[in-house]
Amino acid sequence: MSSFKPLVFSGVQPTGNLHLGNYLGAIRRFVQLQDSHDCIYCVVDLHAITVWQDPAELLRATREVTAAFLAAGIDARKNIVFNQSRVVQHAELAWIFNCVARMGWLSRMTQFKEKAGKDRENASVGLFAYPNLMAADILVYRATHVPVGDDQKQHLELARDIAQKFNNDYSERIAELGAGVEMMVGEERVNGFFPLTEPLIEGPAPRVMSLRDGSKKMSKSDASDLSRINLTDDAETISRKIRKAKTDPEGLPSEAEGLKGRPEAENLVVLYAALAETSKESVLDEFGGRQFSEFKPALADLAVEKLAPVAGEMRRISADQAYVDSVLRDGGERAGVRAESTMKVVREIVGLLGG
Ligand code: TYM
Repeated sequence: MSSFKPLVFSGVQPTGNLHLGNYLGAIRRFVQLQDSHDCIYCVVDLHAITVWQDPAELLRATREVTAAFLAAGIDARKNIVFNQSRVVQHAELAWIFNCVARMGWLSRMTQFKEKAGKDRENASVGLFAYPNLMAADILVYRATHVPVGDDQKQHLELARDIAQKFNNDYSERIAELGAGVEMMVGEERVNGFFPLTEPLIEGPAPRVMSLRDGSKKMSKSDASDLSRINLTDDAETISRKIRKAKTDPEGLPSEAEGLKGRPEAENLVVLYAALAETSKESVLDEFGGRQFSEFKPALADLAVEKLAPVAGEMRRISADQAYVDSVLRDGGERAGVRAESTMKVVREIVGLLGG
């Protein structure tokens, strides 16, 4: 049985500041996966403009996210690093997926509901169709694995639904052209053109929470800068934010069980464990019974120790704009070749003249 070649794809939006959630939930995983997989990492500028972006700021942020990828340790020669808008096939496939996905599916997306808020009439059409573009990002390479944080889970389920509907709708044509690949869907063996991508939502911190409110995720768009640790924060700022992080009056428990119902305490323990690359249990073995007044400085020291080298590298790489641009250009060329080879077949499957 031939099956899809394993390929990792993921993307990060160039909006606002990258934070510890992006780093621990996604970027650090990207770095780990490059040892075992062929990987494509994308700065998704077309996604960013689904809400208003100042053009100069968008350019700056696109380069900054690229610098963060490289500073974190992604090897742009072994893998592909590029910005989305360069490879026009993403937008082309997204249009086809606009015609595959159903309004009802997209209406259920919680991220759209959150981002559009009460004034839905005034949200861009792009914001609504966002998940179709995301499915196109992945499937234009027929990628099989997508490392993301927990907040992207619903979008990845939609990408599977789109792949499945496309495979079904065009099954005869796919067979006629011999373009399908055999795969298992549950117990069933089916032949399809697009893989049903596996989300990789794993690692110690798939959902890093706000430092000000343990019920909200750490986010670029939170109005309070104290809610997040940015990758570019200096040591003093990191320590201050951790000192001010919300906690409860109790000390740390000795068992993970004791963190139940204490989201802020749990988040700080998760952060420590993720940064130290250990488990919550072993953090609690060390700090159980101690007060936050002792734990917070230890966490701040650890965060500074782990993040300062990344921030330093980011500054160094960002200073060489010509280099960053050359990485994106080269990555875009290589990604474009792969994307076009998929689209040639997609056009034939759908019946679009022009090849
Ligand atoms: P974006 O730019 O919001 O976030 C980039 C990555 O960071 C993860 N993340 C988090 N992980 C843990 N805790 C948090 N608090 C946290 N906040 C963010 C996100 O899950 C993501 O992995 N739609 C995507 C970008 C995208 C994409 C794709 C991803 C576009 N096309 C194709 C994968 C495949 C987004 O807005 O991520």
